[in-house]
Amino acid sequence: MQRREFIRICAATATAAAAPALPAADATPQLYSRVRLVDGGGRPLRAAAIPARRNLIFHYPYASTPCFLLNLGRPAKTSARLRTADQRDYEWTGGVGRNRAVVAYSAICAHQLAYPTRDISFISFRSEASARNRLANVIHCCAEHSQYDPADGGRVLAGPAPQPLAAILLEHDAASDELFAVGTLGGEMFNQFFAKYELRLALENGGTVKRGVSGAAVVIELEQYCRQQVKC
Ligand code: FES
Repeated sequence: MQRREFIRICAATATAAAAPALPAADATPQLYSRVRLVDGGGRPLRAAAIPARRNLIFHYPYASTPCFLLNLGRPAKTSARLRTADQRDYEWTGGVGRNRAVVAYSAICAHQLAYPTRDISFISFRSEASARNRLANVIHCCAEHSQYDPADGGRVLAGPAPQPLAAILLEHDAASDELFAVGTLGGEMFNQFFAKYELRLALENGGTVKRGVSGAAVVIELEQYCRQQVKC
């Protein structure tokens, strides 16, 4: 098999905790199925075609777990040292694509698990500051105003969230400009999410709460996916 030219992993290397006596375990990447990101017509999504500062959504690694795909319109940081709520350290290594501006995160708020549904979304990327949101270019959860920096590994900038948003690991094929989701890095909250919303998720997903995504994941604008976005 030919060696593919690519690939930067959007957030990758776990690092050792700067540990005193009893170091916590590192937050290692969790690998899932390698899934091609495609547009609404099923065509491979090119990184260069992702509009800047728009909320795009796809579901990964489960059909019920939403993620944001963002072109920040500027390079993300190349490295961020982060820590989960249970004190596991990890290093996120930046965006992918030509300008390293493409990033992806779980859209499940790390505070109390607000997430975008077909009906409503309290959480989304905001490029503009507002009366209630003094920070621009953040992922803001209007439930209790947790704000995360998508250019810095999903770091918490404000609000009660106890840890960054979990990053979605992206591979970028430099030759084709295609994108693949391959795993997660950081504090996954899937188990808590499934437990909290089990009934709703079952209704929304044909009775199957934890069906893994394989092959391809469709990326669409949040506005198309969700009937109402709460702005704050
Ligand atoms: S659920 Fe998002 S801030 Fe509370």
